[in-house]
Amino acid sequence: MRILSVVGARPNFMKLAPLYRALRGRDGVEHAIVHTGQHYDRNMSDSFFDDLGIPEPDYNLEVGSGSHAQQTGAIMQRFEPVCLDVAPDLVVVYGDVNSTVAAALVASKLGVQVAHVEAGLRSRDWTMPEEINRVVTDRLSDLLFTPSLDGNENLEAEGVLTERIHFVGNIMIDSLVYALPQARSVRAAENHGLQDRGYTLVTLHRPSNVDDPATLAGLLDALTTIASDQAVLFPVHPRTRERMAAMGWESAGQGDLRLIDPVGYLDMLSLVSNAGMVITDSGGLQEETTFLGVPCVTVRPNTERPITCSQGTAQLVASDTASVLAAAEAAAARRIEGGAKIQYWDGKTGERIADVIAGKTGRPAQAEDRDRVAHEV
Ligand code: UD1
Repeated sequence: MRILSVVGARPNFMKLAPLYRALRGRDGVEHAIVHTGQHYDRNMSDSFFDDLGIPEPDYNLEVGSGSHAQQTGAIMQRFEPVCLDVAPDLVVVYGDVNSTVAAALVASKLGVQVAHVEAGLRSRDWTMPEEINRVVTDRLSDLLFTPSLDGNENLEAEGVLTERIHFVGNIMIDSLVYALPQARSVRAAENHGLQDRGYTLVTLHRPSNVDDPATLAGLLDALTTIASDQAVLFPVHPRTRERMAAMGWESAGQGDLRLIDPVGYLDMLSLVSNAGMVITDSGGLQEETTFLGVPCVTVRPNTERPITCSQGTAQLVASDTASVLAAAEAAAARRIEGGAKIQYWDGKTGERIADVIAGKTGRPAQAEDRDRVAHEV
């Protein structure tokens, strides 16, 4: 069986690594990696391959940045010849970024089966590019691997055949469990002169939070206020850095707000695990904080990961100064010592996915559906 995994952006890499390891030991499986080049800075891409032990990609499409149409179109144009050349039995896509939907479109139009890792998540917010990517990718996929049971419910409500849906758990937690001992030895907080639980860790990069200068200024005001009390460490995403420069934002110079470049996977895990609180709009951090039991203020009006609020440590808040400050004030009470226990967030999701993939007969699922529909008609 020939498998092509397609990844492109930072949150994809920690989802690929566990499946890469699980497939490596399987007889008769050839697994190649395509990097679209959606993310290309060393600290947004290569450092993750190093930290997670993923080999160099077999193909790099080097698409770089652009508008959604430019980026998605470039990935499609450059991935199609690779897909034709390799003639895979299965293309595996991850998460909800532009690389995910672009590769799923190419593969499905070539009649190649598609597997989606992290299927079924829904924010029901169509202003998010990721929601469009999630819904389209799931519609095109033959194998849908869900991280939590709300994913199964969403897919069933959309009419996806139940035999295509596999509840396997959260693959990102596999990477976390695998890397945590090493991450703890990195002692990233100590290297920044910070005490355990004595600082707030921040990431913000969603267009809805950073593209409007008034919204971004309000959030930065909240961070400045928190920093008058306690250190705030903020690894700044390139998009956010650009927006801050464009609006001419300068730190007020009071308080301990530290803007640093994006950090690698092990450093980030180390910083999250020791933080007093995390303020973020990242999907992955909502889940990592829940697993680690660290209070999380999620600066979004909705989430495709509701389990992080219902069973975890996260609270949704509006993107304004007062809401963030009120939530930050109340956050400590949401800490879960020892972390939240959620079904199949156990470090074994990669193996469960590999079991399903290796058990496939190779007969295209779409063709089976067509046969059945023809028969029923
Ligand atoms: C993408 C994903 C988002 C994910 C995020 C993680 C989509 C639609 N969005 O958003 O879901 O949470 O990745 O980071 O796919 N840039 C660089 N260097 C890089 C990458 C980006 O400087 O290596 C800058 C460029 O100015 C670029 C901007 O960041 O235009 C945005 O990058 P892009 O990949 O379009 O989207 P993200 O905001 O990173």
